[in-house]
Amino acid sequence: MNRKITRRSAVALAAAAPVALATRGFAQSPIVIKFSHVVSPDAPKGKAALMFKQLAEKYTDGKVTVEVYPNSSLYKDKEELEALQLGSVQLLAPSISKFGPLGVKEFDVFDLPFLMSDDTHARQMMASPMIGELNKKLEDKTVTPVAYWDNGAHVYTANVPLIAPDDFRGLKMRIQGSKVLDAVARQLGAIPQIIAFGELYQALQTGVVDGEDNVPSNIWTQKFYDVQKYLTVSYHGRLTYSLITNKKFWDGLPADIRPGLDRAVKESTQFFNDTAAKDNAAALDEIKATGKVQMHVLTDAEKQAWIAALMPVHKEMQGRFGKDFIDRVYKESGFIPPQT
Ligand code: LMR
Repeated sequence: MNRKITRRSAVALAAAAPVALATRGFAQSPIVIKFSHVVSPDAPKGKAALMFKQLAEKYTDGKVTVEVYPNSSLYKDKEELEALQLGSVQLLAPSISKFGPLGVKEFDVFDLPFLMSDDTHARQMMASPMIGELNKKLEDKTVTPVAYWDNGAHVYTANVPLIAPDDFRGLKMRIQGSKVLDAVARQLGAIPQIIAFGELYQALQTGVVDGEDNVPSNIWTQKFYDVQKYLTVSYHGRLTYSLITNKKFWDGLPADIRPGLDRAVKESTQFFNDTAAKDNAAALDEIKATGKVQMHVLTDAEKQAWIAALMPVHKEMQGRFGKDFIDRVYKESGFIPPQT
């Protein structure tokens, strides 16, 4: 009898061994999260990525290691999305204007010109129930959004002054990729060109494009002011990031890991939003202080002329998104279309 029990135990032990070994192996080697992004480590996203690393490693007691790859050093705009879906990286924070290649076109709607007038409205939009519906569409593409980061409003830079809508006529303008941004450039009589962020400095330097739009902290940390002569504070669009992960990876994380990561996500989101607001304000002053670009802040009257010139894009995009969808976005973002 004893012998029998011993044999049975031996079989059970043998069967359990690989599991035990695997568990022990897992306990000893941390889970690695590769976090790839395209901006400078000194830009708000770069700083927040490092903050996430610090918090994630702390809150998981070192069971997670985060490796941050800044400045497109691992992947460029489009490649990083493919890499995330393939599981080659676990975390990204791309601009939501770049989600088209994932097959989720709805995020382009947030590029409608002058849609989100300030930080409060932008954050209200991205926290609305509509976003939950859009998140599901991303999850269907194996991408899980865990947070939205608001990087503020866009300004334009170019090698000619951009004061009136007509000033864009004939210019080659770099866009991020969204179909709405393409329509905006065309509406202004410009020629849109999709260029990866990591290639933008050179494209501006060599004249592949004449201008671009971005947040001041990106213009500052990428030194675009070295290769552009004019900057217009137009605040015509927004830069929103989504902190995204691979759904299979995220759902498969052990139960004791997720709370620590969720906490790190929450705190780095707050850190990001605060940092972005501060850095973008400071960057405008820093760019001005270089004396390399001539800066112009649109007057109210000039801004009204831009809005009037760009409202046809809102109308045109009803064909792409449906009027009902756009009306819901107006409601959530507090946008009131001007009476014409
Ligand atoms: C851009 O491509 O212009 C920016 O969105 C880059 C970034 O991630 O801030």
